[in-house]
Amino acid sequence: MRINTFSLLASVALGSISALAACTSNTTDTAGLQKLIHDGGAGYKLELCAGQVYEISEQLNYTALNQEISTEG
Ligand SMILES: *[C@@H]1O[C@H](CO)[C@@H](O)[C@H](O)[C@H]1NC(C)=O
Ligand SMILES: *[C@@H]1O[C@H](CO)[C@@H](O)[C@H](O)[C@H]1NC(C)=O
Repeated sequence: MRINTFSLLASVALGSISALAACTSNTTDTAGLQKLIHDGGAGYKLELCAGQVYEISEQLNYTALNQEISTEG
């Protein structure tokens, strides 16, 4: 019983890690989002998670050519 419960928890944890890798969650603040765009450079695509609300405190600026902000899916 213990082992089953543990492996269930482990797969839930792994699932949320791969979800985080696929999109940028709304726990990232405006400065963090801007930094991702800046550090990503030309051609960077900022992927926001579907169904999350982002509180953007100021305008996000593209810092290089061919950058994109989109929602996953
Ligand atoms: C993130 O999005 C969820 C779902 O809309 C929302 O309930 C939550 O308040 C948001 N968190 C932040 C930090 O904006
Ligand atoms: C984006 O540019 C505007 C105008 O220059 C500036 O006011 C704003 O602070 C910038 N946004 C970020 C997140 O730095």
